[in-house]
Amino acid sequence: MSKFIAVPAMLIGAITLATCTNAAAPGAADSNQTPALGSPVSESRLADFDLIIAADGTGLPAGSGTADLGETIYRSRCQACHGENAEGRGSAAALAGGSMQSEGPPLRTVGSYWPYATTVFDFIRRAMPADAPKSLSDEEVYQVTAYVLFLNGLVSRNQVLDRDSLPAIVMPNRGGFIDQSRIQ
Ligand code: HEC
Repeated sequence: MSKFIAVPAMLIGAITLATCTNAAAPGAADSNQTPALGSPVSESRLADFDLIIAADGTGLPAGSGTADLGETIYRSRCQACHGENAEGRGSAAALAGGSMQSEGPPLRTVGSYWPYATTVFDFIRRAMPADAPKSLSDEEVYQVTAYVLFLNGLVSRNQVLDRDSLPAIVMPNRGGFIDQSRIQ
C-alpha cells in the first residue's frame, strides 16, 4: 500500500481557503497564539510509543524468559489465531516451519525468513496479540518470543533469553537480505 494519500486539488484549495478565512476573520485569535490542536506529549507518555529495538538489540528492556514459560502464554494468547503449532490459520501468518528455498513460492515464517530474533521480539511487543497489542509485559514478551523460536528449533526449551542472549541468536536467513545502501 502506498505511504502517500492522494488529496484532490479541489480539497487542497478548500483547506487553504478555510485557513485564510480564519486568519482574516474579525476578532481572530492573536497571531502569536498556536492553533488549539492538542496538548504537548509528556516524556512518560512518549516512552509508551518509543519502543523501537534495533537489530543489534539496542533498546531491549530488562527481563528474561524461556520457551517453557512462554508455552502457556502462546496457548492462551496466540494459538487461537496462529494455530496449535504456529502453522497459521486464516489471515494469521504461520510462525514456524517453511522454507525460502522451496520449489514453489517460499513460505515466510519467523524461522525461515526473519533475519533477527531481536526484531521478532520488537514486533511481538509492539503488535501482538493482534486483538490486544501491547498488553503483554516485557517478561511475557521474552517468554513467548522464546516459545516461537523454540517451535522453529532455534532455542531449547529452557534456554534463557534476555537482552544479552537474544541478539546472539543467529537466524537461518540472516544472510538472505541485500544491503540496499550497497546498491548503486
Ligand atoms: C486475533 C488474532 C491474533 C492473535 C491473538 C495473535 N496474532 Fe500474531 N498475527 C495475526 C495476524 C493477522 C498477523 C499477520 C499480520 C501481518 O502480516 O501484517 C500476525 C502476525 C504475527 C507475526 C509476524 C509473522 C510474519 O512472519 O509476518 C508474529 C511473529 C506474531 N503474529 C506473533 C504472535 C504472538 C506471539 C501472539 C501471541 C502473543 C500473536 N501473534 C497473537 C493475528 C493474531
